[in-house]
Amino acid sequence: MVDQISRVAPGAHIVGWGMAVPQQVLTNDDLATMVDTSDEWIRQRTGIVERHIASPEETTFTLSLQAARIALERADLDPVRLDMIIVATITPDHALPSTACLLQDALGAKKAAAFDLSAGCSGFVYALGIAADLLRAGTYRYVLVVGAETLSRIVDWTDRGTCVLFGDGAGAVVVQASGAPGGILSTVLGADGSGAEVLIQPAGGSALPASAETVAARQHYVKMKGRQVFRFATRIMPEVSRQVLQQAGLKIEDVSLFIPHQANDRILQMSARSLGVPEERMFSNLARYGNTSAASIPIALCEAIEAGRVRRGDLIVCAGFGAGLTWAATAIRWSLPLPTPEPPRRVSWWHWLRYRWARLRSQWRRVWRRVDANLFHVLYDRDGVRKRKKE
Ligand code: ACO
Repeated sequence: MVDQISRVAPGAHIVGWGMAVPQQVLTNDDLATMVDTSDEWIRQRTGIVERHIASPEETTFTLSLQAARIALERADLDPVRLDMIIVATITPDHALPSTACLLQDALGAKKAAAFDLSAGCSGFVYALGIAADLLRAGTYRYVLVVGAETLSRIVDWTDRGTCVLFGDGAGAVVVQASGAPGGILSTVLGADGSGAEVLIQPAGGSALPASAETVAARQHYVKMKGRQVFRFATRIMPEVSRQVLQQAGLKIEDVSLFIPHQANDRILQMSARSLGVPEERMFSNLARYGNTSAASIPIALCEAIEAGRVRRGDLIVCAGFGAGLTWAATAIRWSLPLPTPEPPRRVSWWHWLRYRWARLRSQWRRVWRRVDANLFHVLYDRDGVRKRKKE
């Protein structure tokens, strides 16, 4: 078992946030027409009522882009000032390149390094912890952290044990280095790979590359031992929440709101009981979105802020668990002044112009890369030595 605990001194602040979910909604009743289940069973056992499902045109990248644009608009930050983009996801658009690189290009964030992070449903908090450490170290000033998923693409729609649980969506935050008090106070990250088989997509990687056989055997879908995940979650959520508060020198009673990974209402209720906090202090939007994996905490954070449940000076704890097995928690002293600005209905003309410019720049670079490669082959031989003009 690996258990890595990192303390982050004040200095990393969330200054922008945004979320995006697909328009298409799949209700429990819809699911009951697809598999042997019922609205009653799903509500009672999970608390989920409906979830959003991506259309064929929507991907993890497109949802990330929508959420990131709103977060940047809120932070009033030009994407060229971003130093790094981290996308936490287990459903990237491609194994390579990373979804973060697609996002970097679309945003025109030409100064930013970009990478994806895979830590299951703990991914967003993992990414936030890494961002906070980088900002605290003085290496960077602005980091965009995104949690985004299109789990509907890897869910087996004939398996009632998993398909009723998951949904699609994205949440993003802009994190800024600042000497102001508060912000991300502490982060705890952990993993236990002995639980790898508990939640796994068996095929599609180097262990079991895609083949006609793996597709026929439905091995590209998520396989889950639900009871084992449940037991792990109810043990780890209170434990990691206590650890992160201890790291920050704070107590459970200091916490204004817990924003846990949205997997199952019964996990949230049992965690609340174990921590000795009233259920109202455990934020839940599970009914409307289901489990959106790495996107669940940033979506919940956005909704908690919009609902006025996060105020300046509040202490919030975000805690998650997921495939790996992994777990993560962060304690944040909310440092932005209130009232918070209205959520932007659409991007401002300045940002709109920037994104158009980013698209043009991207297209130009693609064309130039082709021309450059062809020119190189015309002018140089295989060893990279300039060809001499024929006499
Ligand atoms: N509809 C109706 N019946 C169902 C369904 C369904 N959708 N799914 C399972 N059942 C049945 C089972 O077949 C079983 O029937 P049986 O007793 O005849 O064998 C019965 O219901 C009970 O099954 P359990 O698995 O014991 O049900 P449980 O109460 O544990 O609930 C659940 C299952 C909801 C999956 C729960 O275990 C859970 O939430 N686990 C955690 C899952 C989770 O959080 N996963 C995400 C991890 S994060 C990440 O990284 C993606």
